[in-house]
Amino acid sequence: MSDAIIRVESLRKFHGKREILRGIDAEVRRGETIAIVGPSGGGKSTFLRCLNGLTSFDSGTVSIAGMRLEAATPPDAPSLRALRARVGMVFQGFHLFPHLTALENICLAPRHVRHESPETFQARGRALLARVGLAGRERARPMSLSGGEQQRVAIARALAMEPEVLLLDEPTSALDPQMRGEVLAVLRDLARGNSTMLVVTHEMGFARAVASRIWVFDDGRLVEDGPPAEVCERPRSERARAFFAAG
Ligand SMILES: Nc1ncnc2c1ncn2[C@@H]1O[C@H](COP(=O)(O)OP(=O)(O)OP(=O)(O)O)[C@@H](O)[C@H]1O
Ligand SMILES: [Mg+2]
Repeated sequence: MSDAIIRVESLRKFHGKREILRGIDAEVRRGETIAIVGPSGGGKSTFLRCLNGLTSFDSGTVSIAGMRLEAATPPDAPSLRALRARVGMVFQGFHLFPHLTALENICLAPRHVRHESPETFQARGRALLARVGLAGRERARPMSLSGGEQQRVAIARALAMEPEVLLLDEPTSALDPQMRGEVLAVLRDLARGNSTMLVVTHEMGFARAVASRIWVFDDGRLVEDGPPAEVCERPRSERARAFFAAG
């Protein structure tokens, strides 16, 4: 793939003697939405963390958003900052700063990293809040927002740096069903735009409807990689068949 925005080659990761990622090869094109599914402990979170330098790895390479990560030479602080500006991450817990308003949370990173006027980044912050369905909630603090609203602020915060790739690790797992729907609607909207996203999720309905491809991770391996219908209905691996049968 010539237009790959992510290329992972032979990625291996150990914790102590345990091999957590056992040689992952994968590519993502600009604008794709990849849903990452699979049994607990399969390495999904570890894989995402390798992609934005939150965790080191033992061999292989990661090329992402024009940067290259190598096992032997972990990125220095400036490279990590550049990487995190290009690759946004959203976690299951929202990790908003409780003492800052929604708008301040969103503007924090752009304010420190970009040399823009407050008017510029605040205008973008307001637009992002509107985009995630929270127009008018600029001054709300996390305490006064529901879980789904907090997660939407966290997504807006990640988008504020205009990342080339957005990584989301179970963004709806901590939410009740209605709030899940609100957050998934935002992700669906982003997927329809030009965003490149990798979403670890248990929401198979979402994965089937929205993802361009589904990846199944099992025991440190990428055991399926294909369009949703193909992966869900005709999985090639026994492990994926078992996973979908159990779900
Ligand atoms: N810091 C760590 N130290 C030791 N082992 C770890 C560490 N982080 C993860 N692991 C192990 O690596 C394996 C993969 O974990 P990971 O969190 O990537 O799985 P996952 O697919 O995201 O699972 P889940 O669906 O439960 O979130 C697990 O066996 C886990 O126990
Ligand atoms: Mg996980």
